Amino acid sequence: MFDKEVYTKRREILQNAMSGGIVLFLGNEEVSMNYADNTYRFRQDSSFLYYFGLDAPGLAAVIDVDENRHIIFGNDVDMEDVIWMGPQQALQDRAKEVGVEETLASDKLTDYLRQAIEQKRTIHFLPPYRNEHRFRLSKLMGITDPFLTAHVSEELIRNVVAQRSVKDNHEIEEIEKAHAVTAHMHMQAMVRARPGMKEQILAGLIEGIALAGGASVSFPVILSTRGEILHNHSHGNIMQEGDMVVNDSGAESDMHYAADITRTFPVSGKFSDRQKDVYRIVLQSQLEAIDALKPGVPYKDIHLLAARIITQGLKDLGLMQGEVEAAVQEGAHALFFPHGLGHMMGLDVHDMENLGEDYVGYDETVQRSDQFGLAYLRLARELQAGFVLTVEPGIYFIPALIEQWKKDRKHKDFINYKKVEKYLDFGGIRIEDDVLITEEGHRVLGKPIPKEITEVEELCSKG
Ligand code: GLY
Ligand code: MN
Ligand code: MN
Repeated sequence: MFDKEVYTKRREILQNAMSGGIVLFLGNEEVSMNYADNTYRFRQDSSFLYYFGLDAPGLAAVIDVDENRHIIFGNDVDMEDVIWMGPQQALQDRAKEVGVEETLASDKLTDYLRQAIEQKRTIHFLPPYRNEHRFRLSKLMGITDPFLTAHVSEELIRNVVAQRSVKDNHEIEEIEKAHAVTAHMHMQAMVRARPGMKEQILAGLIEGIALAGGASVSFPVILSTRGEILHNHSHGNIMQEGDMVVNDSGAESDMHYAADITRTFPVSGKFSDRQKDVYRIVLQSQLEAIDALKPGVPYKDIHLLAARIITQGLKDLGLMQGEVEAAVQEGAHALFFPHGLGHMMGLDVHDMENLGEDYVGYDETVQRSDQFGLAYLRLARELQAGFVLTVEPGIYFIPALIEQWKKDRKHKDFINYKKVEKYLDFGGIRIEDDVLITEEGHRVLGKPIPKEITEVEELCSKG
């Protein structure tokens, strides 16, 4: 946990930003896997962690803006719990560690909120993303589910997003701790990969490194020789000589700050010439995109810069044709680069996505595009010092998409389908790093993880 002053200050900022009422945060509960007592690894809600720090199930908290009360609701353990879980610190003592003096038993929350509702006071809550929360909120608020979303507080969402978007030095330190574990995951994958090995050997190895070094993985490991499947969570392929592996994975620090890195490497230790040609384009687009990061620049412009570099590179290889600017404007490059360049990162790998992607990545200056590819851009708005984001361009050859576009003669002036069809077995390449926006420009977080072709090949041949 951070010092209690960190949490006290965060709550004070939020309280001052709110117009009034009661702000309610529900912590997460244990979730069963296959029978009640067999639960998934517990993950606390990130906004609860941000303002109240306590990493345990069964908690809720309020900031009563009008009465200046901060209360944590929860129960102390009984003897039966002690037998199964060991001794636990009293809630009052745990609350003090995050600067909260007032605690109440869980069942008092209903009375507290009912009274507030009777007094016609506003209760602000964030969008629920777990069914248990929907259920609990419905009961607490006396509102049935379909109407619950209409009562989510936009004022609270906006204030939380404004606050959590800008990371302080303590948070950057945590992200860099997660990054150090993540670097180990990626370098070990490169060292240990062999032709003939099943992907799950590597996936299990790196997930083990995440568990040993921090809290967990920050999202389910994406590791596959079928790199053109953007979020491929299955690991059943046998890696073959000549294949590339896309490894998109990251750890969470003990305090649940994320890292999110992608590297693409050759199973046999050496890229083929054709692989190198495409790899160089992705790397150039990533390096130039990172170079252009600074406060005041809309991230959408950086995405389009990467798209232009990818388009120029593919044109040089004869896979695209025509005018680069026009091709990007019309979205022809999205056949190869169908996703956004990156997203915010912090306590969530896609930071605050549960609060609504558009609140996090868009504002009144920039609207989400409905063009294929660009529509997936999660972060488009102007960058500010303190933002942490990912830069993750890729080039993919997705057979089903290529066939569909060819059949529809889509963007035929910009795409050389005859040549593209020779790449149907290519797979995909993505390279991803985590970057902090600073007053002066930017800083790539963590110690560098090999990504130049010679560095990657050198590490791959170390095993
Ligand atoms: N790890 C998923 C992503 O890169 O967005
Ligand atoms: Mn990733
Ligand atoms: Mn990412």
